[in-house]
Amino acid sequence: MAIDPTDVPRFAHGSRIPGWDESADLEKSPLEVPDPATTHVPDDLRAEIEAHVAKYPPDHSRSATIPALWAIQRRYGWCTPEGIEQAACVLRLTPAELSAVATFYDMLDTSPTERNRVYVCTNISCSLRGADELLETFREHAEGEPDVHVRGFECLGACDIAPMASVNGTYVGPLDADDVPTLLRQLRDGEEPLPEKQLARRPSADPKAREPQS
Ligand code: FES
Repeated sequence: MAIDPTDVPRFAHGSRIPGWDESADLEKSPLEVPDPATTHVPDDLRAEIEAHVAKYPPDHSRSATIPALWAIQRRYGWCTPEGIEQAACVLRLTPAELSAVATFYDMLDTSPTERNRVYVCTNISCSLRGADELLETFREHAEGEPDVHVRGFECLGACDIAPMASVNGTYVGPLDADDVPTLLRQLRDGEEPLPEKQLARRPSADPKAREPQS
């Protein structure tokens, strides 16, 4: 049933939004940067985040926020409060600053979710090549799978392999319905997803395209 907005009562301050007239407390102290002396950060995690920080100019550790959160999600399955605390400690930022980024990007999870993430692109190029049916097939086959999270997604920037999906960050396509049970079996068995359909393994016209970056 449609809601008539004029049915929603106004507060005394004139708005329909509670707290609209309450100003922010500018005196309130921000959360503190975690103390390295009391915040345990696993050595390999610290090294990984520091390697990301090193890619940016000095005093720009903030630029490594997304890769640091990505490292946390890979390690713990999602961006846990403890993980955010650890990353904040290494980056010398407040946990609130990292949480603000983590809650903005929907590829970063701030609550527990299944470990295997399958994002099926349903944007225009993929949709024209059957992505909606593909997503439905994924949902049907993944029902009851304990550790697979399937969702539709906007353009993942690989329209040339439409219809495609990101499987834990690995792009695969073009996909058809027969690939779905194979892919889910590979995830169950801890195998690589559809190696022959991975974007990263496609031959390129540029012979230098696959050379390691210096
Ligand atoms: S529309 Fe699917 S990757 Fe662009």
